[in-house]
Amino acid sequence: MNRLSKRLEVLASFINKDDSLVDVGCDHGYLSIYLYRNKLCKKVICSDINKNALEVAINNIKNDNLDIETYLSDGIKDVPMEGINTLVISGMGTSTIVDILRDRNRLKGVSKIVLQTNNNYEELRKYMNSIGYYLEIEHATYDKGKWYLSMLYSKSDKKNEENVLKYGFLDNPAYVKYLLCKYEDILGKIPKDNEDYIRYKEDYDKIKLLFYK
Ligand SMILES: C[S@@+](CC[C@H](N)C(=O)[O-])C[C@H]1O[C@@H](n2cnc3c(N)ncnc32)[C@H](O)[C@@H]1O
Repeated sequence: MNRLSKRLEVLASFINKDDSLVDVGCDHGYLSIYLYRNKLCKKVICSDINKNALEVAINNIKNDNLDIETYLSDGIKDVPMEGINTLVISGMGTSTIVDILRDRNRLKGVSKIVLQTNNNYEELRKYMNSIGYYLEIEHATYDKGKWYLSMLYSKSDKKNEENVLKYGFLDNPAYVKYLLCKYEDILGKIPKDNEDYIRYKEDYDKIKLLFYK
């Protein structure tokens, strides 16, 4: 591994030196290896549900002679959570992430959750608020021809505003431009009296208003 991809770099930037974390669904283990090598966190554990994926991580860790524990586990079910205060779950759909976070007992010591999903952003933001995690930062990154949203949550009773739950932080002008183009494309294909048109147009106008306010 020469360097991290842009999207993994953003996730790494959310991690602090005093974080003890589980990289859930680590696959190759690149993020964990980067964090460990650069001493960017206190402790890192790699886990994956897939034996072959975890084998790749184990080999990468062995090659570099690193002290990173690995666990074959569905989510965090078989991962020892003592002392863990941070989870990173990236490269999965919202329903898988929600399933992984369902066992609230195992989240007791977890004060920070870093997420990168590839669908149903609004559903994920709402779910995170409902289990007591507040969206602090959401960053849109363009990497290898795709947009990725990286989310940093902290344990809190605070709730995000409705607009944030629905549209996120809209922090990157290029991402907003992409979103608006996508809506324009959809709107161009739907008859104006269709109820979907009205719904999409409302979202389109709202995003414009929020961004250009
Ligand atoms: C697309 S890869 C993403 C790898 C890495 N997190 C990243 O962002 O580059 C998704 C990984 O999540 C793992 N995975 C899927 N469902 C999981 C679950 N319920 N528990 C743990 N790992 C899971 C898959 O086996 C796969 O290795």
